[in-house]
Amino acid sequence: MMSEKKIKKTVVSGIRPTGNLHLGNYFGAVRSFLKMQHDFNCYFFIADIHSLTTHPTPANLQAGVRQVLAEYLACGIDPEAATIFIQSDVPEVTELYTYLNMNAYLGELERTTSFKEKARTQPDNVNAGLLTYPVLMAADIIIHKANYVPVGKDQEQHLEMARTFANRFNRMYHHKLFPAPKPFTFDGKDMIKVPGLDGSGKMGKSSGNGIYLYEDPADIRKKVMRAVTDAGPTEMNQVKPEPVENLFTLMKIVSAPETVEYFENQYNSCQIRYGDMKKQLAEDIIAVTTPIRERILELVNDSEYLGKVARMGAEKARESAVRTLTEVRELIGLRKLY
Ligand code: TRP
Repeated sequence: MMSEKKIKKTVVSGIRPTGNLHLGNYFGAVRSFLKMQHDFNCYFFIADIHSLTTHPTPANLQAGVRQVLAEYLACGIDPEAATIFIQSDVPEVTELYTYLNMNAYLGELERTTSFKEKARTQPDNVNAGLLTYPVLMAADIIIHKANYVPVGKDQEQHLEMARTFANRFNRMYHHKLFPAPKPFTFDGKDMIKVPGLDGSGKMGKSSGNGIYLYEDPADIRKKVMRAVTDAGPTEMNQVKPEPVENLFTLMKIVSAPETVEYFENQYNSCQIRYGDMKKQLAEDIIAVTTPIRERILELVNDSEYLGKVARMGAEKARESAVRTLTEVRELIGLRKLY
């Protein structure tokens, strides 16, 4: 009988080991990963080599990798269901990156939006790794012959380049080795956009408006109480300004429907007290984050468990990577003379 794994489509996703997971990541990407891990043959990895473009200290790099691994596991990514690994544990990726670099052209790399952006904002660190970032990303993806890559808007161009490099390789060596990796779009109802607490826009790592999964309840209460509101409605059923709408959106994500309805009625009848609403919102956020936070704290210090997960992931990922690389070497003509 054919094993179930064979007929599942393959998904690859990389996570940079910088920053911590916030509510936006959790209700966006992470919850989709939790579903995907059972429906697809998933490779989720920590892109530690990619993060070297910004020259982290060895201690920071190491801490970042552990933290990200612990946070994803705490959210429920299951190392038995998905292959979770660390990029640098699979050296085959960098070998494929070398081969792909021979057919990646300076012009197309220089035209990449993210590269141009980095070249502009950090002119004193425009290194070659930054230039070939999309090539390494392509190697990550096609080494497992991925069919789908869940990506946000900011990664769409990189994924398009991965398709270009995959097709170019196939054409050059007259062999359909790599499938074209397609963007994975979650269905509408899963695409929850979590707003920030600063009145506008969505929760983001860099914007400093986020609530992190690891944060302790006192800090969460403080942040929520400081969230931007206004002087309150002056007319019945008044349209909500964005900062207030955002609080309601957050509440819809974390609170019970009755709670949301109660505050909607309070707002519509001009009786709302934002302080009360925020207090309730903070408690409901804390109810979501607390079990995850406790798991993170437990896991991040459990070197033995993290090591076991990383080793198991590396073994599974290498098996797939070695298989592809054997075919790649053969096609290129890198054949052993002995
Ligand atoms: N570039 C991605 C980011 O910044 C991380 C990444 C590296 C990635 N390799 C990948 C994502 C492969 C998907 C597939 O978020």
